[in-house]
Amino acid sequence: MLFKNIDKRKPSSGVDPVDPFDMAASNGDAGPSVPALECRGVVKGFGGEPVIDGLDLVLEQGQVMALLGRSGCGKTTTLRLIAGFEDPDAGVVLMNGQTVSGPGENVPPENRQVGIVLQEGALFPHLTVEQNVAYGLGKESRGNGRRDARIQEVLAMVGMEQLSHRMPHELSGGQHQRVALARALAPRPRVLLLDEPFSNLDPRLREQVRKDVLEILKDSGVSAIFVTHDQEEALFMGDVIAVMNQGAVEQVGQPEEIFHHPATRFVAEFIGLADFIPAWRDGDHLVTEVGSTEWPAFDGYEGSDGIDGRLEVMVRPDCLMCHASQQGQGVITRREFRGPFNLYHVSLPSGHAVRCLLSHTENFSVGTTVSVGLRNGHALTPFINDRAA
Ligand SMILES: Nc1ncnc2c1ncn2[C@@H]1O[C@H](COP(=O)(O)OP(=O)(O)OP(=O)(O)O)[C@@H](O)[C@H]1O
Ligand SMILES: [Mg+2]
Repeated sequence: MLFKNIDKRKPSSGVDPVDPFDMAASNGDAGPSVPALECRGVVKGFGGEPVIDGLDLVLEQGQVMALLGRSGCGKTTTLRLIAGFEDPDAGVVLMNGQTVSGPGENVPPENRQVGIVLQEGALFPHLTVEQNVAYGLGKESRGNGRRDARIQEVLAMVGMEQLSHRMPHELSGGQHQRVALARALAPRPRVLLLDEPFSNLDPRLREQVRKDVLEILKDSGVSAIFVTHDQEEALFMGDVIAVMNQGAVEQVGQPEEIFHHPATRFVAEFIGLADFIPAWRDGDHLVTEVGSTEWPAFDGYEGSDGIDGRLEVMVRPDCLMCHASQQGQGVITRREFRGPFNLYHVSLPSGHAVRCLLSHTENFSVGTTVSVGLRNGHALTPFINDRAA
């Protein structure tokens, strides 16, 4: 089923119900200290193949989490486990501190108060905008004034009140997704799950819609997980980003933290452009061919002060600058035009290469000898390269 109609008046079991027609109701009334959602050690396999493999996740009240990962890493399966469309083989899912999936506990999807928005929106083609949103509120209170007020409220929230009598085929892609969002928000879900909701939109529209949707999510105060492949979208949408790899969360953190301090090489390579070059320790400093920074708090490196071949650092192209210099250590091997910037590939004496992002005020041709160094204020992020051991 694409969208679960949630009837909160007759929960057989499940999370405490919210009255969707109560204008003062909040989505986060379990208290700010209780996470809206928690997955602890969740495991799920299909046909003996593990797909979700010890997944841990905490979504705080009112938080928007961007769930990012490669195709097939288990993002949709994670959402299906949270919504209750799949049962975990092991582990626990809690909503507002109450177990919804776990040993001896399996709250059906209709009692979880989870809203879902999918890639294609999945509006009912034979229902108007207003009727689609009304569907989200169930059938039983039809004609109820408070219900009608709630429909108008969510349509206004997504800026669709003027188009409430249109049919889905009369809407643009962006409008379609806004109605899908209104329909999912109408019953005041505890948790809203969005599975790549903008991937069918063209890039320009997508940028506008993502801005609008983030505003709507924040205004509504809903706790949400937003799945995307698109790292730029994740950096923009997420209060926090969870990077998934092979059925588990590899790192969760604020966008800046994930970008500048990736916990693993996978995360570093997945978010933004990253190059890895050898490093060594010189007293209090972490030294590389492109400069040095203070030795950081870094567990896991017990090597000597010299190069042992396993210590390396991540450098991002925006952290480097270069200028033409006969004494420089680098040689430009390639220039990529990137609109407002050029991305230069620079080879270093060790045989490693870095990339350097520069504005058009600096122009180097291939073969130029350059001095390449760290821009002020940028630190180096060390990693242990186990492949070199
Ligand atoms: N019902 C199922 N039966 C068998 N295998 C499944 C089932 N559902 C998912 N899988 C497999 O589990 C893996 C994860 O699928 P999932 O749809 O969660 O990936 P995803 O991260 O959402 O990928 P995408 O970004 O392409 O949407 C895939 O290898 C998929 O083929
Ligand atoms: Mg998917």
